[in-house]
Amino acid sequence: MATPSLCFVFSLLFFSATVAPAERIDREDDLLIRQVVSDADDHLLNSEHHFSVFKSKFAKTYATQEEHDYRFSVFKNNLLRAKSHQKLDPSAVHGVTRFSDLTPAEFRRQFLGLRPLRLPSDAQKAPILPTNDLPSDFDWRDHGAVTGVKNQGSCGSCWSFSAVGALEGAHFLSTGELVSLSEQQLVDCDHECDPEERGACDSGCNGGLMTTAFEYSLKAGGVMREKDYPYTGRDRGPCKFDKSKIAASVANFSVVSLNEEQIAANLVKNGPLAVGINAVFMQTYIGGVSCPYICGKHLDHGVLLVGYGAGAYAPIRFKEKPYWIIKNSWGENWGENGYYKICRGHNVCGVDSMVSTVAAVHISNH
Ligand SMILES: *[C@@H]1O[C@H](CO)[C@@H](O)[C@H](O)[C@H]1NC(C)=O
Repeated sequence: MATPSLCFVFSLLFFSATVAPAERIDREDDLLIRQVVSDADDHLLNSEHHFSVFKSKFAKTYATQEEHDYRFSVFKNNLLRAKSHQKLDPSAVHGVTRFSDLTPAEFRRQFLGLRPLRLPSDAQKAPILPTNDLPSDFDWRDHGAVTGVKNQGSCGSCWSFSAVGALEGAHFLSTGELVSLSEQQLVDCDHECDPEERGACDSGCNGGLMTTAFEYSLKAGGVMREKDYPYTGRDRGPCKFDKSKIAASVANFSVVSLNEEQIAANLVKNGPLAVGINAVFMQTYIGGVSCPYICGKHLDHGVLLVGYGAGAYAPIRFKEKPYWIIKNSWGENWGENGYYKICRGHNVCGVDSMVSTVAAVHISNH
């Protein structure tokens, strides 16, 4: 027997078919529909089916039978978590993702990587901007300021993707040229530390902070192109930074106030912004506007804010909430083609509390 919340998931499924490409929904269909029909009684049976679909879809193999059984037990817990996330966050769709065989702790360790915020000495406070003429919808992807979705792999280097994404946008604004820049340079070479807290330093796959990454980029002179310093997702290699191949340089960077109108104004004026977020709902996120009733404000993930939407009438939910458009670094196969939508208005999941903007130097010699 289906409970009301499960029916709700069905409704959302139809809605999401209108916002995401059909092929993707077709593939998700199976996972979702079967998942929502699993009741307590046949939960185990269905979990086995979901797990085998999951393994083939994401090409998962486990070295031993023990490992397999353990991953299956984690997977079952994550099915329950996805269900509870769906209840807490009805305007989004939650379900099986490629992270469904990881415990929350493993997920945090491998796919997030944000240190607690302390400001480096060169960080300024962004000036207060006028907000009366802001567009109701805005998306930097429509203006060519955003590179394709990248993939940090199993490495807590989100902070470098967030910072590099902001610098790519700033560089585009100052030069008119969109250049994909190197996260690996930051992973290998940026060991910038918090001046006031010993041991709080950017440290490759073990985490970092976007503002310290800007500080490093400022001191180093700039960041190389992705193609000259490609991503490996490993952090024990030597720094191969070559000053003669700098493609973009930081002029200055600033911290934006917590006010949402100011965040929007800085986004529109300065380009995509580096933001911190609590990623707990992102482990099970499939699509829609995420607007959980309860979400921690503890920030553990760095992402790129590229736009916002005013929300719109949608037949099933009656009204889509105003949202921020977030570029993530978990590949295009996660979320809505690599993107996340989170509702605006109440600092949901801490999304307004660590926002920084960077300005690039105009470089013409390449
Ligand atoms: C940051 O640098 C940009 C580009 O050089 C400049 O236009 C802007 O005034 C600077 N901002 C601050 C706060 O210094």
